[in-house]
Amino acid sequence: MTRFRWLFAILAVLVLLSGIGWRLLTLDAVRPRVDVITMKARGGFEDLSWGEVLTLVRSGRGPQLRALVNVGNPFAAISNPFATEIAQGAELFESECSSCHGSGGGGGAAPDLTAGDFQHGHTDWALFRTITRGIPGTSMAGLPVPDRKAWQLVAFIRSISTGASDRATPGPAANVSPVPDERLKAAAREPGNWLMYSGTFDGTRYSQLADVNQQTVAALRLKWVYQFESANQPVEAVPVVVDGVMYVTEPPSNVAALDAATGRLIWKYKRTLPGRMRTCCWHTNRGVAIAGRRVYVGTLDAHLVALVSATGQVVWDVEVGKADEGFSITSAPLAANGKILIGTGGGEFGIRGFIDAYDAATGNRAWRFYTIPGPGEPGHDTWSGDSWRKGGGPTWLTGSFDPDLGLVYWGVGNPSPSYNGSGRPGDNLYTNSVVALDVDSGRLRWHFQFTPHDEHDWDANQIPVLVDRSVAGAARKLMLWANRNGFYYVLDRETGRFLHGQPFVKQTRAKGLTPEGRPIPAVEALPSPRGTLVWPGNGGTNWWSPSYSPKTDRFYVHAHERPSVFVSGATAAPQEREFFEAGKQSEVPSGKAFIRALKADTGTLAWEYALGSGPSLTVSHGGLLSTAGNLVFGGNGEGQFVAVDAENGTELWRTALGGSIFASPITFTSDSRQVIAVAAGRNLFAFELGK
Ligand code: HEC
Repeated sequence: MTRFRWLFAILAVLVLLSGIGWRLLTLDAVRPRVDVITMKARGGFEDLSWGEVLTLVRSGRGPQLRALVNVGNPFAAISNPFATEIAQGAELFESECSSCHGSGGGGGAAPDLTAGDFQHGHTDWALFRTITRGIPGTSMAGLPVPDRKAWQLVAFIRSISTGASDRATPGPAANVSPVPDERLKAAAREPGNWLMYSGTFDGTRYSQLADVNQQTVAALRLKWVYQFESANQPVEAVPVVVDGVMYVTEPPSNVAALDAATGRLIWKYKRTLPGRMRTCCWHTNRGVAIAGRRVYVGTLDAHLVALVSATGQVVWDVEVGKADEGFSITSAPLAANGKILIGTGGGEFGIRGFIDAYDAATGNRAWRFYTIPGPGEPGHDTWSGDSWRKGGGPTWLTGSFDPDLGLVYWGVGNPSPSYNGSGRPGDNLYTNSVVALDVDSGRLRWHFQFTPHDEHDWDANQIPVLVDRSVAGAARKLMLWANRNGFYYVLDRETGRFLHGQPFVKQTRAKGLTPEGRPIPAVEALPSPRGTLVWPGNGGTNWWSPSYSPKTDRFYVHAHERPSVFVSGATAAPQEREFFEAGKQSEVPSGKAFIRALKADTGTLAWEYALGSGPSLTVSHGGLLSTAGNLVFGGNGEGQFVAVDAENGTELWRTALGGSIFASPITFTSDSRQVIAVAAGRNLFAFELGK
């Protein structure tokens, strides 16, 4: 056989060329293929037959081939290309396998496949080869089916073996403790951990930790740095920390588990992304959700993936939206009531937005709420003609949750096209709104629209901040919201009733708000073909997490004071890959960024801290953290990371991190000592008090 190796290689190259055609004969497309064939010819990949190598090479899955070349080990490099075809796998399993393994794989004459303890290996490749080659000397015979069918079986086996697959995993594993729903609900009671994107379900980003405080903060020292292995994409990731393990996402859609005490890498999940995606902006990701013994991540190609917390192994992987239709995920999922909730990006490509909930254990979709009502549904008449089909309303930032009311609150993005609404007359519900959904059914309980019929890209992709507080002597469940349109809102979160609103930055779009909270438009502020200067330009704030401190009763927000020139353009459907925006805005180069402390009940300015000015605002997108140490942490586009006094805004500590801060800081404890962590540039920094 050895003698024929090179003959095989030559044949392989011929097959390869016939398969991919000369059109694709660029170095990038061919290189990994040739490398794989050469490595095989030299005696590598012993575990792969020539037939299998050829199938891989012809399938054109570049990233996976590259991984195979780099890692050299199919068990580690090859992942299931048909991971979502679980249903097809289930059908095949019932007809071909259940006679021995039992219906549903629960075991019978042959082993239980749901326990996750696979004697013969449990990576995707190991399962694939068990199924196609069988296990010699046992009644488990190889199944002679096309590759795709075998992969479907792998997908099905994965879907049923969620129970204990973490036990069977070789290699380094994090020492994890489970995070049941009760822990998530009571996250505020364990300030030593940071259990979700916003810290707690109420989105306040307030921590009870107070070792680092007004008196001690000056002694903060660097504890460790973790370098992201990412291309030049901004890091917006907010880590999650549970019992000494930190989970953080790396651009574009990878997940790293770190030892929170040292920053040492424990495992990394690397997402292979398809070549064809339509994404609006940066290839970034804001973080994971954790629940039970799983870590959940949304990916740029619009999948939702469940990983084993201990090892990073994939448990399930479902398609949330079609990447080539413009769907993408950059936000952290929200784990609530046994479900994983996730929103989508893609407003620039004229999607119809939605919020999805998936069963945490199985990945089955529990419900979908379309942010644009379909024909016959209430609100559909706020769109004209077919405009609703491509009306946008993306949901690319994590929502908040009130477990007592059973309501999930989620911000909805702007209508498409962004800068010319003439083709979509009407309010365009539920764009630029917050929606309150029943967590179990996804049914809409109420909505509040901040900006009806938006033409300024003032989406409502902000974090809902839920605060219980008295209003005029009566206890009220409130929602506080500093909106991109420049207004600060106080809503009753049981009913959605508007209680109060006023600008927190200069704004020229509205003459004021009606008693129902609807802006009274100033007509001269609409985009025009020649361009109209409007404040607050690209937004008084944006996705940057605000924070609320019950100690000071202040709402802290990263605010921008800067106008833009808004230009309306043609509304004709654009060419593929072009943005469906019908116009543009040009940010005026000068402008100022602040940390602003607003009185929670009115939004009146209590104090402000100047974060920066000028062109660096374009990259000044950091969120905030407030603590019981009476501090507010935040950062700017120049990489200055600061702690200011939560009472009066005095700067108490500052350090230069050398890269723009696009992320929000968090705090947790390691060995009973308080740690502050934030991503800047391409690094994650952790600080603690010097000894
Ligand atoms: C005739 C009975 C029989 C049929 C049919 C059968 N298997 Fe098996 N299978 C076995 C036995 C027996 C073993 C255990 C072999 C051993 O390790 O001793 C096994 C082992 C396995 C394993 C490995 C488990 C481990 O611990 O690593 C997998 C995966 C598997 N089977 C999948 C399948 C699939 C998928 C099908 C249908 C295409 C199938 N089997 C059909 C008898 C069968």
